[in-house]
Amino acid sequence: MARNAVEIKDLNYVYPDGTRALSHLDLHVFEGEAVGLIGPNGAGKSTLLLHLNGILRTDHQIRIFGLDITDNNLPMIRSRVGLVFQDPEHQLFMPTVFDDVGFGPVNMGMKKDDVVRSVQSALEEVDMLSFAERSSHHLSVGEKKRVAIATVLSMHPQILVLDEPSSNLDPKHRRELIHLLKKLTLTKIIATHDLDLVSEICTRVAILDKGRIVAAGPASAILQNKPLLARHDLDYGA
Ligand SMILES: Nc1ncnc2c1ncn2[C@@H]1O[C@H](COP(=O)(O)OP(=O)(O)OP(=O)(O)O)[C@@H](O)[C@H]1O
Ligand SMILES: [Mg+2]
Repeated sequence: MARNAVEIKDLNYVYPDGTRALSHLDLHVFEGEAVGLIGPNGAGKSTLLLHLNGILRTDHQIRIFGLDITDNNLPMIRSRVGLVFQDPEHQLFMPTVFDDVGFGPVNMGMKKDDVVRSVQSALEEVDMLSFAERSSHHLSVGEKKRVAIATVLSMHPQILVLDEPSSNLDPKHRRELIHLLKKLTLTKIIATHDLDLVSEICTRVAILDKGRIVAAGPASAILQNKPLLARHDLDYGA
């Protein structure tokens, strides 16, 4: 039987300014699943993803492969859960693309040769190897997005968590990303407005609205349910 990769029970989150972003949220993801999180702007998708590797914390509502997210477990959780932020600016802070993609592997204590190999293969996967010595800050938005994805691939996580991975990508690189994500067999959780990407990659879909999961099921069933999508300001297909 498949293992639980992510278990969330009754997760509530209120930002310091009093904005309630998540309400009584339950979600289970099994190892090997690819789950699409869809929903209107402000639904809470990004807030939920930020909880999966402890960037936002509450007590004991989330388990990753059975582990609570505690101070002691945080390094282990972060090595297992690779999170790509919605805004790539939040992911890139080193002098060069190579250093940004190597930051995680170096931090994990990987040997120098292995760091170089991991960085090269991650950059190749997002078609950015020729940018290795460039400054991340001077890239276009789409190029930054691809490097941000590489910063996580280079860590070989067990759960890949992507927030709007296809936004700002040109058609060629969006297609290549979809191809790459299809090829990767690890557990994937993807928040996106790109429902074509969801239909190609995700086995299951959860709709978030106003901080709650309002529907979840097989991707094909959810994406074909036009009245359900319309109730949550979503639309798919002709
Ligand atoms: N740092 C913050 N402080 C206060 N409120 C916040 C903060 N970040 C997000 N919010 C609020 O929390 C709610 C959920 O936002 P979130 O970014 O999780 O939505 P989302 O579903 O990812 O939206 P989008 O589709 O636009 O990316 C929104 O009402 C938003 O205004
Ligand atoms: Mg978001």
